Amino acid sequence: MAIETIHDLLITEIRDLYSTEQQLVPLLGRMESAACNNQLRLAFAKHRQDTLEQIERLESILQLMNLRHEGNSSLAMNGLILRMKAAIAESMPESVKDLALVAAAQQIEHVEMSAYSSAHILSYTLGLDEVTNLLQENLEQEEQADMILSEISAAILVAAGKPLEV
Ligand SMILES: [Fe+2]
Repeated sequence: MAIETIHDLLITEIRDLYSTEQQLVPLLGRMESAACNNQLRLAFAKHRQDTLEQIERLESILQLMNLRHEGNSSLAMNGLILRMKAAIAESMPESVKDLALVAAAQQIEHVEMSAYSSAHILSYTLGLDEVTNLLQENLEQEEQADMILSEISAAILVAAGKPLEV
């Protein structure tokens, strides 16, 4: 699709997010199975549920904007998904494996947060209030998930005898 207006750009961002979230549902299931730390497994399971809710909100947005469900995840996200698959497949000591999963997951979260922030400001600028509110809810879920991952990685480091010096 040719991008000529802010509205076109918003459509592209939303379709990318929709495609990304769909890819993340099965990936989060694999991340949950690969994690050793119980809190981390629970966090991935919780975020899988969040992601299903996010997909529903994106479907509502597509409906509000009268759009078909199509799109491709961004090249940046495809690279991060490959990195996560490598972290899942590689054999490592338990705490290192969990930290590798957290690192790869937080990179995905940060790209998602940035994509939701961009889409949010575009939709706010266009005065699409319902779309803006739905994007805000997804953004807040990503921020919460990112914060929980930071707490878990700090706890894993403390348990491994290497507390963070902050
Ligand atoms: Fe997400």
